[in-house]
Amino acid sequence: MSLEQREREFHFSDSDFHELVGIVGKRTGIKLAEHKRSMVYSRLARRLRALGFTQFRQYIQLITAPEGEGEITDFVNAITTNLTKFFREEHHFTHLRDRVLKPLAAHPPLGKRVRMWSAGCSSGMECYSMAMTAQEAIPDIERWDFKILATDIDTNMLKKGQEGIYRKEDAEAVPPEYRKKYLVRHGGAKADEVQVIDKLRALSSFKYLNFISEPWPVKGLFDVIFCRNVVIYFDKETQRRLFAKFAEMLKPQGWLYIGHSENLMGVSDSFESLGKTVYRKIA
Ligand SMILES: C[S@@+](CC[C@H](N)C(=O)[O-])C[C@H]1O[C@@H](n2cnc3c(N)ncnc32)[C@H](O)[C@@H]1O
Repeated sequence: MSLEQREREFHFSDSDFHELVGIVGKRTGIKLAEHKRSMVYSRLARRLRALGFTQFRQYIQLITAPEGEGEITDFVNAITTNLTKFFREEHHFTHLRDRVLKPLAAHPPLGKRVRMWSAGCSSGMECYSMAMTAQEAIPDIERWDFKILATDIDTNMLKKGQEGIYRKEDAEAVPPEYRKKYLVRHGGAKADEVQVIDKLRALSSFKYLNFISEPWPVKGLFDVIFCRNVVIYFDKETQRRLFAKFAEMLKPQGWLYIGHSENLMGVSDSFESLGKTVYRKIA
């Protein structure tokens, strides 16, 4: 037994790790690489402690048994990586404002209907960055049929998104003039949190969606889809299926924004590249 193994609170063998990799892949599409071993250990150790288990084997037995179905939500929530930021990759929001939303404001579509989707939204910072951008570009947005859908597989993140409450330090990434308009103090005397204003929360709806289980409970067609920093965890085949669905769900010439380290080469030919990680559906 290695020193690391002896010092660990719970027994965690190679075969435990490989079995968990298989379960995560099947449930979420996320491909866990070898170097994620200690991450998997530390994230799941909390679940083992909560359940009073002494070894990973017991946990694996639980989540692979029919009576363990209830634990799957906590298991998936523990495994997902939710790193996000307000206005992450700021150039996307400048593009969204100037090239997509302002032209829509100038020539409103039928019924002033616009749909945007933050796909893999984590705690909602991406969705609310989209909402702030939309409010800036379309000042009378409340008179539009304008909606932003935010989806994720992690139910804890969806709850955070619905509340729209964030630490002040996270809000520092919001441009100061937007912070004044769109965030209000939250948290009583301590007031170390802010909340997104009701008007922007009303534009947004948070829903559970697992990309790898079909059918998706989502109705198209969308003008804009943000799916950023999600598919890096998926294999190419899963990415192909995902982007084929996004192509189906976008309007002709609809916009797709992906993460800075992602690209569609060998994944989809339904889109043309129109700038750094900005794509448009080929009509
Ligand atoms: C790194 S975060 C990216 C958040 C945001 N899009 C951004 O770029 O800041 C990736 C998100 O994808 C979600 N995710 C992972 N697998 C998923 C799946 N199979 N279905 C839906 N969402 C998934 C995770 O829960 C996580 O919140």
